[in-house]
Amino acid sequence: MGPEPQQSLARLGTDYIDLYWIHNPADVARWTPHLIPLLTSGKVRHVGVSNHNLSEIKLANQILGEAGFRVEAIQNHYSLLYRSSEQAGILDYCRNQGIPFFAYMVLEQGALTGKYSPDNPLPEGTNRAQAYNGMLAQLKGLTDKLASVGRSQGATAPDVATAWAIAKGTTPIVGVTKPYHIDGLVRASSITLTSDDIAELEALADAANVNARGWWEREMAV
Ligand SMILES: NC(=O)c1ccc[n+]([C@@H]2O[C@H](COP(=O)([O-])OP(=O)(O)OC[C@H]3O[C@@H](n4cnc5c(N)ncnc54)[C@H](OP(=O)(O)O)[C@@H]3O)[C@@H](O)[C@H]2O)c1
Repeated sequence: MGPEPQQSLARLGTDYIDLYWIHNPADVARWTPHLIPLLTSGKVRHVGVSNHNLSEIKLANQILGEAGFRVEAIQNHYSLLYRSSEQAGILDYCRNQGIPFFAYMVLEQGALTGKYSPDNPLPEGTNRAQAYNGMLAQLKGLTDKLASVGRSQGATAPDVATAWAIAKGTTPIVGVTKPYHIDGLVRASSITLTSDDIAELEALADAANVNARGWWEREMAV
């Protein structure tokens, strides 16, 4: 919300924002204090931060904490191919602090659905083709395993990739583009993955040896 929050609220046709996401960590120390009057007045009910590393999350939490508020949601790229938030300790931090972690791009924009392959690549000329078409051959072992785990439970590869993110304690945000994708989300919520399934999927993801970091993301290492 800009310098005139009242005008932003009026344009949105609401009196308050339920969850205000800070999309990127431009300058946590500089901008976070500006949220406090909005939280105090009730114009913003909850604050979440996206694409922040662990020290940035802690700093935002500390600044809000001094005023009696806290970071109440995290949203980072997290998928079988991109587990930087786990490796950097952000998932553990969220679990310990009781902060929900929202995983975005759990399907790597379609590359983990098994629908795309070197013979049937993502549509040329799109950003996702540029990001993923060069790695589709390496993803076959992983997507085949996702599909076979899915078959054993009446589900599909993307359902299992989503179920994996749920099993890791996150709440996936999936970009559905077709009505039947919603059925996949429903199935994903009832898939049971064993620790062996999870270990095998993660080993195949590591073996693919690809870097799925988005162009807008910085390294998560603290
Ligand atoms: N905070 C951030 O910086 C940030 C960055 C990126 C994304 N996000 C959030 O994350 C959300 C998801 O990201 P995303 O849409 O880019 O990637 P995604 O969820 O990894 O992938 C979405 C793609 O997967 C395919 N798909 C989805 N459900 C499917 C299903 N059940 N079966 C088969 N294919 C399925 C669709 O491909 P087809 O269309 O080819 O069928 C869709 O375009 C976004 O909407 C956004 O809210 C946040």
